[in-house]
Amino acid sequence: MGVTKFLTIFVVVFFSLSVILINNGVEGFHKIYSHLQSVSAISVSDLHRTAYHFQPPRNWINGKTGPMYYNGYYHLFYQYNPNGSVWGNIVWAHSVSKDLVNWKALEHALYPSEPFDKFGCWSGSATVVPGKGPVILYTGVTDDKNTEVQCYAIPEDSSDPLLRKWIKPDTLNPIVIADRAINGSAFRDPTTAWRSNDGHWRMLVGSKRKDRGIAYLYKSKDFIKWVRAKHPIHSKTTTGMWECPDFFPVALESREGLEMGVHGNNVKHVLKNSLDMTRFEYYTLGTYFPKMDKYVPDNTSEDGWGGLRYDYGNFYASKSFFDPSKNRRILWGWANESDSKEDDVNKGWAGIQAIPRTIWLDPSRRQLIQWPVEELNSLRGEKVKMNNQKLNKGDYVQVKGVNAAQVDVEATFSFSSLDKAETFDPRWVNAQDLCAQKGSKIQGGVGPFGLLTLASQDLQEFTPVFFRIFKAQNKHVVLMCSDATSSSIKINLYKPSFGGFLDVDLSTGKIPLRSLIDHSVVESFGAGGKTNILSRVYPALAVGNQAHLFVFNNGTEPINVQNLQAWSMKNADIQ
Ligand SMILES: *[C@@H]1O[C@H](CO)[C@@H](O)[C@H](O)[C@H]1NC(C)=O
Ligand SMILES: *[C@@H]1O[C@H](CO)[C@@H](O)[C@H](O)[C@H]1NC(C)=O
Ligand SMILES: *[C@@H]1O[C@H](CO)[C@@H](O)[C@H](O)[C@H]1NC(C)=O
Ligand SMILES: *[C@@H]1O[C@H](CO)[C@@H](O)[C@H](O)[C@H]1NC(C)=O
Ligand SMILES: *[C@@H]1O[C@H](CO)[C@@H](O)[C@H](O)[C@H]1NC(C)=O
Repeated sequence: MGVTKFLTIFVVVFFSLSVILINNGVEGFHKIYSHLQSVSAISVSDLHRTAYHFQPPRNWINGKTGPMYYNGYYHLFYQYNPNGSVWGNIVWAHSVSKDLVNWKALEHALYPSEPFDKFGCWSGSATVVPGKGPVILYTGVTDDKNTEVQCYAIPEDSSDPLLRKWIKPDTLNPIVIADRAINGSAFRDPTTAWRSNDGHWRMLVGSKRKDRGIAYLYKSKDFIKWVRAKHPIHSKTTTGMWECPDFFPVALESREGLEMGVHGNNVKHVLKNSLDMTRFEYYTLGTYFPKMDKYVPDNTSEDGWGGLRYDYGNFYASKSFFDPSKNRRILWGWANESDSKEDDVNKGWAGIQAIPRTIWLDPSRRQLIQWPVEELNSLRGEKVKMNNQKLNKGDYVQVKGVNAAQVDVEATFSFSSLDKAETFDPRWVNAQDLCAQKGSKIQGGVGPFGLLTLASQDLQEFTPVFFRIFKAQNKHVVLMCSDATSSSIKINLYKPSFGGFLDVDLSTGKIPLRSLIDHSVVESFGAGGKTNILSRVYPALAVGNQAHLFVFNNGTEPINVQNLQAWSMKNADIQ
């Protein structure tokens, strides 16, 4: 055995042991692996790296933080460990883009350096303050007991179009510390601020008391001195710590985005929280009463674990921002890995950003719609089509001529009758459980039908994204699933069968589906972005040109694939 090989084995065994022995701490629920936090990658594995989803060349990333558009550039800041591929040493890494697709890395915007952030520069937001320019609000960690305070940073030179250097004025910081009523180690992620008619700035900070999730409201006249409002803007029992709150207006009658601070009869508000306890997010639609400093969710919007989600898959710590250059609101989420920490150390990287999504209110006013930003289409290369492909029960047909490991596919699946729909059991309240119970291999009435992504030729590996239609008492229920169960012959992977219900008009007799497939990501948009699911998968066989794409049907009702279009995707230029 050569020395290198011996060393490799030693290193792997050593890391594996460290993981077993040291895997105790939890930090904002990121598991802590102290011995791995500053271990640079020996090499970086390209096998499952993405080609057009954002990820830095190496190391760990988690939520994005403070996205904004300013003077011609989009700015992406993200939580980054410069020294390893597990969580730790968190800084604000900084990349800029003109098109949300191709990115250039700059020096880190914020890193621990001051007494108020010596133990970490955690998530926050950016606000463009008239007359001041961009201001970052972020959570600084002051000690090893995770005492969290809110801090303030501004560009050193706001005429630098790239805003490369950021300073943290000593005399001002920290701008907010937890008062006695607040748990100072559960107090983080300040939101983008907005100004109401009374001229006061407002922002939220996520927190909890016992198991009640809380968004505290702070007000300021000058953006520097902040005072806590008497009551939180909103809170909810049993939801646990609210991380990365996001609060913004959406227009009732238009797809255009709105700036923060717009309120009144023509808008609704959205409050989203990332639940540390369950590691998924939910949002409500509701009404914001600025005079009372209150937000009240609509009675049609479930406020709690069963609430609406931007994404029913792997999508967390999301954040939206208003893009004034195209009058739209853009939502961005982070997807962690579903392999093991040992895999991450061996790969030399962990974490990706989802594709930025334009977000607006559905005409029903009961949910939001999301769609990949139009700029993504610039990466579409060679296109193939499939028209009127009939699929009987058990059929699956290959979409030939695309790079199936790196493809954008849009298809419409139609059916002529719902008579054969299976009966819906009202006890089925959890879509993910139902997807686990009724996967693509369990044949049905209307569905399962959809795509088989990242599939090996013999279907030993595949990630199906599909619909299944049920008949309930007075209506039909549509289930959408993205199932990683058969995604890889590798073991020790997290292979959930993610699912969400889809509120879609079935009288048209069809359901559209779009999937963005990118080596280890399948990011899917059901019915034009009503229900969305991002899965992380790690095929061992279905990689590179051994990956295939199929359409399939495993229900009795014949399905017709209408105008499927698939584009092999070019690589984004991400440095
Ligand atoms: C991370 O690495 C850089 C140099 O590569 C070093 O200066 C810095 O001290 C390291 N930080 C930690 C926390 O290990
Ligand atoms: C404050 O929050 C921390 C972190 O979640 C938790 O461990 C601690 O028990 C909380 N303290 C109180 C008094 O609730
Ligand atoms: C929900 O609120 C609307 C008014 O916004 C009201 O008309 C309706 O009756 C309420 N429904 C329930 C179930 O409370
Ligand atoms: C990340 O990955 C693990 C599985 O490896 C999962 O259990 C966890 O909840 C994930 N999500 C987040 C937001 O950390
Ligand atoms: C369709 O159902 C059959 C029978 O259960 C199963 O063998 C096959 O794998 C299913 N097809 C897919 C794509 O899951």
